[in-house]
Amino acid sequence: MPEIEFITSSVADPASAVKVELVEEGELRSPLASLGGSSLEDFSAAGLGFNAKAATTLLIPLAGSTPVIVVGMAAGTEDADELRKVGAAVARSAKGFEDASVVIPSYLENLGPMSLRYLTEGIVLASYGFDKYRTDPEALAAASKLGRVTYVVTAPEAIGAAEEIARGVAVAGATCLARDLANEPASAMTPTVFAARANELVAAHPELSIEVWDEGRIEEERLGGLIGVARGSTEPPRVVKLTYTPKSPAEKVVALVGKGITFDSGGLSLKPPDGMTTMKTDMSGAAAVLASMLALPDLEVPVKVVGFMMLAENMPGGSATKPGDVLVTRSGKTIEVLNTDAEGRLVLADGLALATEESPDYVVDIATLTGACVVALGREIAGVFTNSQELVTDLGFAGDVAGEQLWQLPLPDRYRKHIRSEVADIKNMGEAGQAGAIAGAMLLAQFVGNVPWAHLDIAGPSRSASADGYLPVGGTGFGARLLCYFLEEFGD
Ligand code: BES
Ligand code: ZN
Ligand code: ZN
Repeated sequence: MPEIEFITSSVADPASAVKVELVEEGELRSPLASLGGSSLEDFSAAGLGFNAKAATTLLIPLAGSTPVIVVGMAAGTEDADELRKVGAAVARSAKGFEDASVVIPSYLENLGPMSLRYLTEGIVLASYGFDKYRTDPEALAAASKLGRVTYVVTAPEAIGAAEEIARGVAVAGATCLARDLANEPASAMTPTVFAARANELVAAHPELSIEVWDEGRIEEERLGGLIGVARGSTEPPRVVKLTYTPKSPAEKVVALVGKGITFDSGGLSLKPPDGMTTMKTDMSGAAAVLASMLALPDLEVPVKVVGFMMLAENMPGGSATKPGDVLVTRSGKTIEVLNTDAEGRLVLADGLALATEESPDYVVDIATLTGACVVALGREIAGVFTNSQELVTDLGFAGDVAGEQLWQLPLPDRYRKHIRSEVADIKNMGEAGQAGAIAGAMLLAQFVGNVPWAHLDIAGPSRSASADGYLPVGGTGFGARLLCYFLEEFGD
């Protein structure tokens, strides 16, 4: 995870290896202190094809003094995610340098500390790389070296940014942790390893307590969905239950549930090879729950949060669940498993039952649930389903600020028939070729009773095919920031 120190100061750090100027689009005439009062026009930047468009960059080497990087940005931009992308451009262009002084334009300084928080998030997020399995020195040398950033503002005390910068570091750090967990190969991130890692990470926070349920406890708790999925694997399942208790008395309780399939082969309904290559990231929901909850103490979230991470490996094997088998879930409801590749909803059925038992005010589950949701909304937008419009409004707002967009899909009563079973209460598949993301959500809805609930289907945005802006290739950590911002909102 990137470890970067952030400082605000009224002067550029003279020791900085590079100075960064943020320039609004088209503003090539303003004198820049880093260029000794010269403008970009004086440096013929336009002649080089540079016009300071959003997220374009130009490195200017200066004989005998610190090099300058110019980062363009849309004129007057205040948008959280645009600023995050400017931060990303700063980090990517300053990758080879150990420290940087970033001159903050006065209009951004006047916007207040949040602008520095968003820039900080962009810098941390874009400095991320998953390099632990690389040995090639050239590839390793290409990793970001940025260790310190000094924001140069006219009134460092007045802007009071330290707290917001720290919150930015916390939520971007949560995203990076979720990425690390997802990028780890499946054989190195089994349910047991995930739970052990959670245990280690939680130890640093007195506000968090953890229970890890092993196979014995899972059996005692009658988690038939989770057991049914894990049966084909030699790796035993785990449930991680995490509780965050705020320092001040909590008025509300929020329960989170994460899909934690550490590898999804499809089970006996085996996936084709191409569909399986990325299935180590099928635990991205659980990763987002763990990572966001670890940030709650730093964010001073005032509500109690209980998280359930439902961890199992979905494999074919001699004792695997077979198509046609019926599972008895924790709630007592029975599910006919017609496709063992629709396993996420089976483990979430138990997770949602556990969550509702906590008498929560809200339940949110997050899962890489359906390929159908990727078809519907693509790789950059997650689906959201609900029985509470108010909850979706709040989650959607948090997503917009976090740069993690949600789009609501319906849960129409008329499609309840899609999950009707010949022999059990429900079946785990909908109708072939129709509304697959809705069928998944419809099954989950049977396990939340009347509690306000939302389901986030992150199958699309949980992975990115290429590095772009603040997104790396591979696991994106989608959802960790959104959950942080959502839970932070309860403070306002
Ligand atoms: N983990 C997959 C969903 C998925 C697909 C996530 C692509 C990320 C990218 C899930 O367990 C699954 O396989 N769902 C099936 C359900 C179907 C069998 C009803 C699907 O979407 O095809
Ligand atoms: Zn599956
Ligand atoms: Zn899956």
